[in-house]
Amino acid sequence: MKKSLLDYTLRIRLPIVVFVAAVAFIATYFLSRAERDGVGYAPLQPVAFSHKLHAGTMQIDCKNCHTGVTSSPSASVPAVSICMNCHTVARKNRPEIIKLTKYYEEGLALPWKRVHKVPDFAYFNHSAHVNRGIDCVNCHGQVQGMDVVSQVSEFTMAACLNCHRNAPEILSNLPGIKKGPDYCSTCHR
Ligand code: HEC
Ligand code: HEC
Ligand code: HEC
Ligand code: HEC
Ligand code: HEC
Repeated sequence: MKKSLLDYTLRIRLPIVVFVAAVAFIATYFLSRAERDGVGYAPLQPVAFSHKLHAGTMQIDCKNCHTGVTSSPSASVPAVSICMNCHTVARKNRPEIIKLTKYYEEGLALPWKRVHKVPDFAYFNHSAHVNRGIDCVNCHGQVQGMDVVSQVSEFTMAACLNCHRNAPEILSNLPGIKKGPDYCSTCHR
């Protein structure tokens, strides 16, 4: 009895378990691809902030909110207090602004979902690009037309290197732009 149970476990159950695990792994691998490669990733945010409205219609400069772009590696996302410069008055009775105000009054940071991310072992620097005149649109697309931010270009090593090696052609609007560096320690430090 015991022996046949063990036999059953080894010959029937184990292969089934392995098979199910393999299928689940493969399915997850392909289904989560958009999120890993990034293109098309557009998570819903905790407050329905629209770039189309603020950066498009109202033409607020990107740098007013993403203050790090000319001075540091990271662009940074604005604190709620920046929003409240306007929203203590503007549309303060709307549900999304009431939500926003609650975060402000409780002194909590908004848990914005990160859209673009290179892995920690790779180094990226906004100011190095932006101060050379490379515009946000080259990497992030037409954000001023988006209600919900979505990733439009790949940030794989191949994509970074493609621009670095062909910068004079890709960025032909910037006279005198040189190729970006392609030695490993530029991005792996
Ligand atoms: C009024 C402030 C404000 C302005 C102006 C603004 N942004 Fe943003 N931006 C935000 C906030 C808040 C978030 C986080 C929520 C979200 O993703 O929508 C964000 C997110 C982003 C992201 C995604 C960040 C991530 O997680 O990867 C990008 C890219 C971006 N903004 C680019 C731009 C560009 C380009 C412009 C100008 C055309 C711009 N922003 C103008 C406030 C602003
Ligand atoms: C320079 C002023 C200004 C800043 C800064 C600003 N907003 Fe606004 N926002 C407005 C105005 C004005 C409107 C209304 C525009 C309209 O409806 O025509 C608005 C509309 C909105 C709405 C839509 C409200 C509704 O339902 O009608 C949301 C949500 C919002 N803002 C969130 C934010 C967040 C989050 C931030 C900070 C990251 C922010 N805003 C920063 C001026 C601003
Ligand atoms: C050369 C390509 C490139 C350009 C140009 C660029 N970005 Fe980015 N951006 C990235 C990459 C790559 C990331 C992810 C960085 C990371 O994970 O460290 C990112 C991330 C962000 C984020 C998320 C928060 C952060 O601090 O990393 C925001 C916001 C953002 N960019 C806004 C902007 C704005 C605004 C501009 C124009 C002024 C701009 N970016 C120009 C490639 C670019
Ligand atoms: C649209 C073109 C473009 C894209 C896309 C791009 N780069 Fe660059 N990058 C450049 C150019 C051009 C330079 C050289 C700027 C100069 O001449 O100073 C550069 C410079 C750099 C530097 C050097 C900064 C320093 O300290 O000198 C780093 C690091 C870098 N890029 C990382 C990345 C990474 C990582 C990615 C991909 C996530 C990327 N870049 C995508 C065009 C690009
Ligand atoms: C312009 C920036 C840049 C340069 C230069 C660069 N890399 Fe990368 N590398 C990246 C980024 C961004 C990633 C993460 C995204 C990815 O995996 O494609 C990465 C990922 C990797 C990985 C992990 C691959 C994987 O599939 O997970 C290895 C290994 C690597 N790089 C080695 C190198 C070597 C070796 C060199 C020099 C010959 C080099 N890189 C030059 C930006 C760069």
